[in-house]
Amino acid sequence: MGGFSRCRELRKMMVMVNSRPPMGLVPKAFLCSTTSGWEGGVSMVQGASRGLGLEFVRQLLEKNSKGHVIASCRNPGGATGLLELKGRFEDRLAILPLDVTNESTIKAAATSIKQNYGSLNLLINTSGILSIPNVLHPVQKQL
Ligand SMILES: NC(=O)c1ccc[n+]([C@@H]2O[C@H](COP(=O)([O-])OP(=O)(O)OC[C@H]3O[C@@H](n4cnc5c(N)ncnc54)[C@H](OP(=O)(O)O)[C@@H]3O)[C@@H](O)[C@H]2O)c1
Repeated sequence: MGGFSRCRELRKMMVMVNSRPPMGLVPKAFLCSTTSGWEGGVSMVQGASRGLGLEFVRQLLEKNSKGHVIASCRNPGGATGLLELKGRFEDRLAILPLDVTNESTIKAAATSIKQNYGSLNLLINTSGILSIPNVLHPVQKQL
């Protein structure tokens, strides 16, 4: 999962959810997260069922008293860590299915978020696509 591909997914998600130019939103999200008055806003963690993503979700919920967190992964029903957090933060945590290799799940998640929250203040992508046909290819040669 290269940095370039994660960046591409982040920009795509921000365009879909916010319907505004993505580059204008990145500094805003960064500003919010570093401002002392930050109370959480609406954050999304994509790839949140375990590892770094799950920990981001946990800390966003535990370290803010008001913020809403949207967590996504391929199989929410099997994401035991997220389900445990849902039990503790029922009103502030939403869990959505999203597979970065499946465009329709990205669109469905974006539509749901737009309807329920309007826009996002922070987006964290922990998984992305390494290869896109005719656009982005993994390195084939042996190094
Ligand atoms: N952990 C580290 O110390 C570290 C250090 C440097 C870089 N990284 C990089 O940071 C990223 C995350 O690391 P991690 O340790 O948190 O990995 P991880 O524990 O394997 O978690 C990966 C997350 O991505 C989700 N995911 C996998 N395939 C997906 C797909 N097709 N669509 C949507 N979600 C998908 C998984 O959810 P489901 O399988 O439930 O869908 C899971 O929540 C990786 O790219 C890793 O290389 C990690």
